[in-house]
Amino acid sequence: MHKYIGKLAVLHNEQTDLALSQALSTRLAVPLYHSVDRFTTEDFFLSWRDGCLKLLDKELLKKGGLMVEIEPRYGEQRSWPAPKEGALAQAIGRKTKTVVDATTGWAQDSLHIFRMGYDLSCIERSPVMLELLTDAFLRLEQLDWVTRLTLASPELIAGNAINILPQLESSPDCIYIDPMFPAKRKKSALPKKSMLILRDLLGDDM
Ligand SMILES: C[S@@+](CC[C@H](N)C(=O)[O-])C[C@H]1O[C@@H](n2cnc3c(N)ncnc32)[C@H](O)[C@@H]1O
Repeated sequence: MHKYIGKLAVLHNEQTDLALSQALSTRLAVPLYHSVDRFTTEDFFLSWRDGCLKLLDKELLKKGGLMVEIEPRYGEQRSWPAPKEGALAQAIGRKTKTVVDATTGWAQDSLHIFRMGYDLSCIERSPVMLELLTDAFLRLEQLDWVTRLTLASPELIAGNAINILPQLESSPDCIYIDPMFPAKRKKSALPKKSMLILRDLLGDDM
């Protein structure tokens, strides 16, 4: 976790239970602050705001921050299971049942896969992303349609997919991989800001 030292801190929001912020800063071994000013060394902050865990940089402190968005993407049908259509469904295969997303990140692909009704597990190696994902999957389970259909969030597996994949109890029908490329990608399904912040904090995937 030493890679976060001097880069990341937890920023306590007075409307949240202090114990939550303290536990998060302990898990990530980063400082806990009650406020941030221009002398603060860290550039990135995790903070609970509007009922979500958010990642902020100094620029975003006064704005919203980034959370794992659990609502369907623009143009996606709001039903469950959503139709297995589009590039993602085509790549995965309609007859596929079980999918492992080996590089979950902001989970926008994962959540689309989940909404199409595949049986999904999610691997992520970044402790910061895992915190954001844990928060998001808890929020997901509280959505009306998810509770009504008694669906469970995808299983979240912490660690390096390279080590985890060979140890899975049963092989999935499909392994989905979307690493962060060092070179500029022409088109990204993700909002630019999320990817830039993630890359700043985690570095490129090798
Ligand atoms: C480009 S992002 C994935 C974005 C994702 N497809 C989405 O829709 O939000 C890549 C993510 O994969 C994670 N990652 C990269 N290599 C990994 C590995 N070997 N094992 C687990 N996670 C990995 C990174 O930490 C990062 O969060």
